[in-house]
Formats: sequence, C-alpha cells, structure tokens
Amino acid sequence: MKAETLLEAARASRSRAYAPYSGFPVGAALLTEEGAVITGSNIENASYGMAVCAERIALFTAIHAGYRSFKKIALAADCTPPPTPCGACRQVLREMAGDLEVISGNLNGEMDISTLSALFPRPFGSLSWDKNPYSEEDQQNSEDNWRVSVSFHPVGCVANGYETPQAIPSNYKELLSQVIIDPELEEGLYRLGEEEKINVISYLHRAKNYTLKEKRSGRGNEVYGVFACRAPLRPNSIAQSTVNLVEVNKNVLTVRGLDLINGTPVLDIKTVMPR
Ligand code: THU
Repeated sequence: MKAETLLEAARASRSRAYAPYSGFPVGAALLTEEGAVITGSNIENASYGMAVCAERIALFTAIHAGYRSFKKIALAADCTPPPTPCGACRQVLREMAGDLEVISGNLNGEMDISTLSALFPRPFGSLSWDKNPYSEEDQQNSEDNWRVSVSFHPVGCVANGYETPQAIPSNYKELLSQVIIDPELEEGLYRLGEEEKINVISYLHRAKNYTLKEKRSGRGNEVYGVFACRAPLRPNSIAQSTVNLVEVNKNVLTVRGLDLINGTPVLDIKTVMPR
C-alpha cells in the first residue's frame, strides 16, 4: 500500500477524534501484515492527562481485533511540520508493532517518512508483548470466541447525490449510482463486467436504533423480527442490494437500482447466484 493511501485513511480518521480540550484532532492509520488498515483518533478527557493519542487508539484497536504484525503507521494532523508520534506512543509502538515505517502528514499535502527505530532507538524493556498469559490454544478453544468484534475494511463507497435516505426517490430501481472501489483493489474487478446483476454488500453507517421486533412497513405493516425482514435498522447495519450493472470503468462501477446514500461504505461486491 502506498504511503499516500495510508495517510489518506489517517486524515479521514481525524473526523472521529474527541478533542474538545486541545482542539487538535489527530488521525492514525495502521497497516497490518495482512493488509488491513486499522484507524484511530485521539480521545481526550476533562482530566487532561487521560487523553490517549490517535496512534495508541489505532494500535490497541488492532491488537484487540486479533492483529499481531504491523508494517506501517500513518499519522495526520493540521500542523507544520507534520506530526510525529509522542514519546509515549513511540515506546508502546516499539514493543507491540516493532520497527514500523512512520508516515507523517498534514493537511497541506506535506509528507515525511521515517522509521520507528530511527525515531526511538533505545526503547525501555525487552519483553515481547505477545507472551500473553492466554495461550493461543486457549484463545482458539474459547467457546465465546465468536463474541469478539469483527472489523471490516470497506472496499469502496457509494457515490450519488443523495445525502439522506429520505432524499432517495421512490423509483430508485431506475436510479443510477456509482460504486467507487479502492483503486488498489481494481484488479479484483477483472471480468465483473460480464455480469448483468451484482450484489453490493454495504454498511449502513447512518442507521441507528434497531428494534428486534416491530411492524415492518415493507411487509404489509405486520410485525416481523429483524432477521425476518430486510429492514435497514439492524444489529450490524449490513445491507445487501442486488442491482443492475451498467458499466465497469476502471475502479468505478455504474449500477442501476441502488437505494443507498452518498458515501455509504461498501464492504464487498459479489456476483448473483446463477439460477
Ligand atoms: N496527540 C496524538 O493523538 N498523537 C500524537 O502523536 C501527539 C498528540 C494528541 C493528544 C492530545 O489529544 C492532542 O493531540 C494534543 O496534544
């Protein structure tokens, strides 16, 4: 993955910061060995010293999600020169993420690339963090393992002019939208153009407050469980839309019949099972 791509993810994740005290949102994006990008942003507190930097939020999120090896971290803030990790983050990153490439960027397009060993040559301690008291076998055998969170990394997003679900016309079956796939994944679209219909799996990022059982407008206003209907408000906010594929142009798909708002993250594209 290009440094600039990872930096873009770090810049975007500034919008998730909780930084009312410093007014200085920072975004971080960590690239795992497997190619996943895990983001973080700084989270502050009225007790100022409790603030946690974007880098550690990203790192701990990744560790909790099960990632153990990392390649690069990007860091973005609105400052010149671009930010570098604070001393505390350097220590933590060095133990848990090894000798990362560190990409620093600001909002003026400036970028600086370094390594953690150059920024922090003599870390404290020698213990390898992955000597976890839980053995890997224990972790694998735990019956409750399925309860852990799963993190997804969108492969693209929806582009159309509709910013709210209410704005989407009722004849959306005729509506043209674009699905913009991450340019780095473009090769995965090879021969998709042969399909007439495709499934777009997406994450309804604005859908909140689901109910398990209620009257469903799409089902004659009768009561159904959330898993017995296609209601957009559901536990994981995942949507599956079967749409007509109009055109594939490089990493941009034009589709007809998508009822998703502008910017909806797309998790996957799959073909429709032939009948
Ligand atoms: N901050 C980071 O998130 N990363 C750094 O590397 C340096 C500082 C945050 C902490 C605090 O919320 C704000 O920036 C001002 O220090």
